[in-house]
Amino acid sequence: MPIIRKKLIAGNWKMNKSAGDGAALAKELLEAIGRETAVDVVLCPPFTALESVGHALEGQALKLGAQNMHPERNGAFTGEISAEMLRTLYVSHVILGHSERRQFFGDTDAFVNQKVLAALAHELRPILCVGETLAERESGATLTVVQRQLEAGLSGVKAEQITTVIVAYEPVWAIGTGKVATTEQAQEVHAFIRELLGQLFGAALAQKVRILYGGSMKPANAPELLAQKDIDGGLIGGASLEARSFIELVKAALAAV
Ligand code: 13P
Repeated sequence: MPIIRKKLIAGNWKMNKSAGDGAALAKELLEAIGRETAVDVVLCPPFTALESVGHALEGQALKLGAQNMHPERNGAFTGEISAEMLRTLYVSHVILGHSERRQFFGDTDAFVNQKVLAALAHELRPILCVGETLAERESGATLTVVQRQLEAGLSGVKAEQITTVIVAYEPVWAIGTGKVATTEQAQEVHAFIRELLGQLFGAALAQKVRILYGGSMKPANAPELLAQKDIDGGLIGGASLEARSFIELVKAALAAV
């Protein structure tokens, strides 16, 4: 029997939405898709809106995610937030290794790996982001880069933990640019990621790991992307900031189930 992976749509709000605006958006989403359980939906507001959005989502099926965290429990790390702190706000997911963190804030593979291990130790589900830049794609290095980021990011993760990890393939050149990867380009990398997961953790477990696509995913291109064999959902930036487009994306995922 084929393994059915539940589709997952996550909204990465990035540095957008105040606590009040975030809660209002969450309420709007709840009205339209609050009872949908056939698809997992995760909202990832900025740290300052986690509490208000979490409050709006209380007792509902939609889940709360953070956009980053520090691997240490506490201490002299000005400006940082720990897994434990996220847990007290009922956060269940955390985006790690997003290309914007790697590009603008110096997150290395090794640091991202520490965060992944710390998240798992605190029962947070990491959404580990990997993806190549335009220069890397043009020089034919896409798969090498993705392999390095994935292997390094998952170093030390145990087989029994891997199904709680979510991988997001986000080609950097497709983020916020309106340039979406073709379905063939995306599926090729997703299949490659699943094969690598198979080598690392065994084929049966690799079949259970969700691999999301991210990069200019919109209602117009989502159905085709979500129909691909190894695309299990989306990590959405721009289109997650408005209720209408995000709801359409969740509906596209429901239709693809
Ligand atoms: P866009 O959907 O705005 O391209 O952003 C994708 C992204 O970076 C999600 O993490």
